[in-house]
Amino acid sequence: MDTSRGYARECDEADPLSAFADRFDAPGCYMDGNSLGPVSRDAERTLERVREEWRDLAIEGWTDGDPPWFDYAERLGDRLAGLVGASAGECVVANSTTVNIHALVDTFLDGGRIVVNELDFPSDHYALRAQLRRRGLDPDDHLVVVESRDGRTIEEADVVDALGGDVDLLFMPSVLYRSGQLLDVERLTEAAHDHGALAGFDLAHSVGVVDHDLSAAGVDFAVWCHYKYCNAGPGAPGGLYVDERHFDRRPALPGWWGHEKATQFEMNLEFTPAADAGAYQIGTPPVLAVAPLEGALDVVEAAGIGTIREKSVALTDYLIGLVDERLPACSVGTPRDPARRGGHVAVEHPDAERVSAALKERDVVVDYRPPNVIRVCPSPLYTGFEDVHRAVERLRSVLDEGAHETVDLDADVT
Ligand SMILES: Cc1ncc(COP(=O)(O)O)c(C=O)c1O
Repeated sequence: MDTSRGYARECDEADPLSAFADRFDAPGCYMDGNSLGPVSRDAERTLERVREEWRDLAIEGWTDGDPPWFDYAERLGDRLAGLVGASAGECVVANSTTVNIHALVDTFLDGGRIVVNELDFPSDHYALRAQLRRRGLDPDDHLVVVESRDGRTIEEADVVDALGGDVDLLFMPSVLYRSGQLLDVERLTEAAHDHGALAGFDLAHSVGVVDHDLSAAGVDFAVWCHYKYCNAGPGAPGGLYVDERHFDRRPALPGWWGHEKATQFEMNLEFTPAADAGAYQIGTPPVLAVAPLEGALDVVEAAGIGTIREKSVALTDYLIGLVDERLPACSVGTPRDPARRGGHVAVEHPDAERVSAALKERDVVVDYRPPNVIRVCPSPLYTGFEDVHRAVERLRSVLDEGAHETVDLDADVT
């Protein structure tokens, strides 16, 4: 692979998304969009509009906002359906990822075992173990934890082997948060169904950067956040998907915002759930926190998720090529097959925490995940190939100069 700066420039010139970077304000050479995407003018615009609506309309904003706040979460959900391959009514903006795991697993778990993996994001296991305990089941018996063969990735075949018996539910991430491995959602869903289990997914690390087709894959339910690749702001409310064949289920954690819309304000004490995924909302949506997502989705939709994914694969390919060629002290912990890779690359180094901190001092923002991973995320909407080149060159200079060896981690509170 040509890893020269000249090649990077050529790629940037040919990039159909290169102008999108102008819509964002990202500090430094920003490679941390897998944790928190930066602000765009579009997100600021919709946030500002809703702030003005609050001032000018106050309570009337629920009905007279443009769009009305009353069904804001459903409207945005329908736009998200386009992003994840779902139909209208199957997605809604609500809660946080962890709360949505509770709400959906509490609804869909019948009382058998749950198949997960040992590289999952911890919050998912906290929620799943609690759901088992609530049913009087011992999580140590009922959480079937698929082990990794190499400490980085999970083999789909091992997940399939763990199904069967009294397994009720497979709950997996689309992309592993540390290594960036993309799991085969379609294959896992099919295997779960073949074994009489449901398939739920945590798409936190893929929505907005990987093109999903949840309906076609037959996924039963999914959850995700919007603060990473969707760039909707810190702590932005999450999203969820429930396949329409499950619309007859009653949500286990009902609240008035999941009530059938037409009769919500009749204030009946008996809960009538909305006839779609909207039923999994619980309380009033935090409208000011939801607002940036509207503008953020304008950006994603204008770029097109297919084009975003294509550029993401090209950027991570280029990044892996640079690491191989220029960073002999580092290894790549992310699958090299693009079909098995999400939007970030795990660059491994024994002193990863100090190296990450030293990089930050050189204006390259990455993050560290223990024990040895520097996550580098060239998020396609605002990152160019030359940015990737710059980030790797700075990483090389940190390592060549040993700049990380003098980093005082106690002084770096971020
Ligand atoms: C894969 C995954 N699941 C769950 C969470 C927790 O999300 P939340 O804080 O929105 O509940 C995160 C947070 O980064 C995550 O990366």
